[in-house]
Amino acid sequence: MILVTGGAGYIGSHFVNRYLSRYPHKQVLVVDDLAEGHREALPDSNRLIFIQEDIGDYSGMKKILSSHPVDAVVHFAAFCYVGESQVNPSKYFRNNVVNGLSLLHALHESAVRRFVFSSSCAIYGNPKVVPMDELHVREPINVYGLTKHMMEQALVAYAEKSGWSYVALRYFNAAGADDSGRIGESHDPETHLIPLAFQVAQGKRERLEVYGDDYDTPDGTCIRDYIHVNDLANAHCLALEHIQSQGYAGAINLGTTNGASVKEIVDLCKVVSGKEIPVKMSPRRDGDPPRLVANNEKAKAVLGWSPEYNLEKIIRTAWQWEQNRRY
Ligand SMILES: NC(=O)c1ccc[n+]([C@@H]2O[C@H](COP(=O)([O-])OP(=O)(O)OC[C@H]3O[C@@H](n4cnc5c(N)ncnc54)[C@H](O)[C@@H]3O)[C@@H](O)[C@H]2O)c1
Repeated sequence: MILVTGGAGYIGSHFVNRYLSRYPHKQVLVVDDLAEGHREALPDSNRLIFIQEDIGDYSGMKKILSSHPVDAVVHFAAFCYVGESQVNPSKYFRNNVVNGLSLLHALHESAVRRFVFSSSCAIYGNPKVVPMDELHVREPINVYGLTKHMMEQALVAYAEKSGWSYVALRYFNAAGADDSGRIGESHDPETHLIPLAFQVAQGKRERLEVYGDDYDTPDGTCIRDYIHVNDLANAHCLALEHIQSQGYAGAINLGTTNGASVKEIVDLCKVVSGKEIPVKMSPRRDGDPPRLVANNEKAKAVLGWSPEYNLEKIIRTAWQWEQNRRY
């Protein structure tokens, strides 16, 4: 049985759905405190157990681990708003690091040594070269990225000193929704570009705020590497298989290698929705690097993974979800 922390969240729920359909005999234990997640995002399955719990509750987690045969963990639970982490660092250190380390300790004490971690491209900071590979210098320029860096350092130590096998998957920008239209992205407040653009297209917001059009990029807006949430989910399945068959793999980027600017995304959202998306230009946001694009050679070589969804499909699935959101 695998333990999935934060499995009721956006990426976690897509992973749980994929995992259960890909492995028809395997079981999943989801632990989520529902601070951000949605119980409805999880499928009805007799191979799924859901427990509402804070991963930072050490004795609660020890109890859960002693009563379920967990042999590997996929750890999604964390807070993930870059902007918020800059104004409320304490909230991020407490949940992403203090609670994260408490979970690692509970696992260690329960003899669980296999771990897949949701890391982030925010760990790199301002790019020295583009695209970035995993050896790129790690100098996060926001607190959120720093919390991911701290957790990765702890995992290096657990691997070296205590023989853990882990994979830290450094996602670039997760986007899109499941093709079924049944699950998708639902953050409150929403801070991600594509859902925000579609909320403007639907008239739920007056205009889309774009932070900075004076970056050193062709159209002046930030460039990001958008990766479909199901491509991320597949990579987690492959990471678990790798850990089980071969052990440690360290840090691995998950991105497409194709960067798209904020303006390009907004234009595609207009085409896909057939609606106007008025934009308000605002000053740059603290902690936003101009360009983040992945080199994904390691994911291909080590996991045998490559992304299946292109940018248009990402945006089409997001639009399908936005029009019929269940939560
Ligand atoms: N969304 C992205 O583009 C992106 C990019 C890089 C990395 N990540 C990382 O991926 C992971 C998942 O991101 P997401 O977009 O699905 O976020 P999300 O907020 O939708 O999901 C996180 C889930 O964790 C739960 N959670 C948070 N703290 C918890 C705690 N202490 N105990 C139990 N449950 C807790 C929340 O209730 C939520 O269901 C996060 O670790 C995030 O930092 C996300």
